[in-house]
Amino acid sequence: MTELSSRIAGIGSHLPERILTNDEISAMVDTSDSWIRERTGIRQRHIAGEGVTTCDLAERAARRALDDAGLAAEDLDLIVVATTTPDFTFPSVGTMLQARLGATKGAAFDVQAVCTGFVYALAMADNMIARGQARTALVVGAETMSRILDWTDRSTCVLFGDGAGAMVLQADETASGPERSGILGTYLRSDGRFKDLLHVDGGPSSTGTVGHLRMVGNQVFRHAITNIAESMTTIAGRSGVTIEEVDWFVPHQANQRILEGVARKLSIPTEKVISTVADHGNTSAASVPLAFDRAVQDGRIKRGDLVLMEALGGGFTWGAALARF
Ligand code: UT7
Repeated sequence: MTELSSRIAGIGSHLPERILTNDEISAMVDTSDSWIRERTGIRQRHIAGEGVTTCDLAERAARRALDDAGLAAEDLDLIVVATTTPDFTFPSVGTMLQARLGATKGAAFDVQAVCTGFVYALAMADNMIARGQARTALVVGAETMSRILDWTDRSTCVLFGDGAGAMVLQADETASGPERSGILGTYLRSDGRFKDLLHVDGGPSSTGTVGHLRMVGNQVFRHAITNIAESMTTIAGRSGVTIEEVDWFVPHQANQRILEGVARKLSIPTEKVISTVADHGNTSAASVPLAFDRAVQDGRIKRGDLVLMEALGGGFTWGAALARF
């Protein structure tokens, strides 16, 4: 059976209006704007207003991606939503989004790989398209991380924000060879032994509560640089391209120092690294498509450019995706 390529037909994102500054957080916990900027690069983050849910953010991003693709909801036969902060334990945000958009064909579901969620979701959709199980897929990363933060814990509450990003993928029979456009490769990893370093201390089957995010930040930091660099060299090698040939790097936005550490390790010029962490903070599964969309909107990422996305998150999960936009 011939494998089909997944072309990136459209992209979109959405951030809630409310901006929470470092100074505002400094009035809530023992921290400061200078500590947050120096250790993370974060200046502000967006926070969903009362009553605004992950599905609301996902819908706004999805509609923009569909508009950008020039497609309608009825064209979709697959919706994959990456989220750790769903509206409900079930149904999935994916099926809720399907109904909101008015899509009735195919399948919709959620993927839970925390900050690596978008890379995982992209891999699911790309593989289903390659096998002919879907032709037009909506892939969304959407989070309301603010709802699972312990707002008295300065080591975590300063780091995260809310938002959503979406991509529309379409089967492309015409493309072949390394110059083809769309998703060129995905690489997924996990290692459950590290669960205690980054986790949520509640859930439906354990505590019966939603729980709060807990992280041993400095240990996650060390694993992040090593594992992200490994996933980037692996995906490039498997796809037959060199790191030097990549036009843009769209990393998960956890910490500016991680972005710079990985760039240094792989000798990547920092101008090629898309960074939104200063304005968005860490939006978990939403961070990669949010950063990608920003760089498309401001004209840096253009059609035909080779783009490498990567992420690491709780689990641990990590991975990378290479695409010709
Ligand atoms: O998205 C999933 C992946 N997540 C990540 O990749 C996050 C990885 N980790 C990080 O980004 C960084 O480790 C942090 C930003 C979380 C922390 O930075 P760090 O340089 O690793 O600091 P640290 O955890 O080693 O803490 C240094 C000091 C500690 O004080 P003592 O023990 O040295 O007195 C902390 O208590 O900084 C203190 N600290 C703070 N001080 C002011 C921790 N959080 C804060 C804060 N404000 N918000």
